[in-house]
Amino acid sequence: MNGHDSIRAVAWRDNHLELLDQRKLPQAETYVQFYAVEEVADAIRKMVVRGAPAIGITAAYGLVLAARRGFKQYPQDWRRRLMPDVELLARARPTAVNLRWALQRMTRALDRIPDEDDPVARLLELAHRIHEEDIAANHIMGGLGSALIPAGQSVITHCNTGSLATGGYGTALGVIRSACAEGRIEQVYADETRPWWQGSRLTAWELMRDQIPVSLICDGAAAHLMKQQRISWAIVGADRIAANGDVANKIGTYGLAVNARFHGVRFMVVAPTSTIDLDTAAGDAIPVEERAADEILSCVGQRLAPPHAQAWNPAFDITPARLVDALVTERGVVMRPDRDRISALMAGPVPG
Ligand code: MRU
Repeated sequence: MNGHDSIRAVAWRDNHLELLDQRKLPQAETYVQFYAVEEVADAIRKMVVRGAPAIGITAAYGLVLAARRGFKQYPQDWRRRLMPDVELLARARPTAVNLRWALQRMTRALDRIPDEDDPVARLLELAHRIHEEDIAANHIMGGLGSALIPAGQSVITHCNTGSLATGGYGTALGVIRSACAEGRIEQVYADETRPWWQGSRLTAWELMRDQIPVSLICDGAAAHLMKQQRISWAIVGADRIAANGDVANKIGTYGLAVNARFHGVRFMVVAPTSTIDLDTAAGDAIPVEERAADEILSCVGQRLAPPHAQAWNPAFDITPARLVDALVTERGVVMRPDRDRISALMAGPVPG
């Protein structure tokens, strides 16, 4: 870890999983210990850990905990007993495809382990590899995305896509970290990202901790900021990218992309290829998680809306591919992504 990357939200500690509780940031830096798969699924659902790559890595470690218990209780039948745990983890959040991607990698490895063998060591080794590969991919994307940004710019980002949302370093925030280290970015504007405040609670905390200059804005201030021509790129992450390049990401991303196109601000999506879902043809087939109305009706535990007020709380939206100027992945940059360019990217060489 260097001076621009000092945070890890997911860690395997000796015999269990440790997560930084992101619900409590920035007021408290609390680490929670997990020994059972049910608790891990619950932590993903309740957003103790969040961000597409981070929940994939967490699920992989969660399956290690499940396998340890399964092999101990049912040494003859552990494989069949593990399948409900895989499903439990996969169902925890529906939009981020990295969750299913990581679990599919783990179950493919399971299929190669003989019935009589203890699966734990091999699953743990793979979970570590998934974790390390994610950090390595983020560093590659950081360099590729940074190269698109001329020196001395201001950029805007949405949600939290940093070390907290990944194995470490971050996707969009990884690009911002790399570009800051290279002197390309002078100022980062971060949407506060209602209703869960990933921007104000997490991105501001993460960037300030790594000495990156950040100013928070209300989500609704982005168009005004862009009109003043103070921004060259909007840089965001993704929870799932369909085969045609449509992007599911935190609610508000679509509006940011529309604003960016209108104001001549370029729009960059940064995501590892584990976020690309070739089985989903287009964005309208991506399941969008709807969360509790209370996240909108209340704020830090205090009710704001009048009694009996109703609210609709989609956690993600879909940005059409035609609004994306650059898709940055660890396998390379795709300018103006579409079905053909994405399929060429996915058929191409894998780094390392
Ligand atoms: O609901 P969250 O906080 O899990 O949503 C996270 C996002 O939308 C991120 O932008 C996305 O997962 C990419 S994180 C590298």
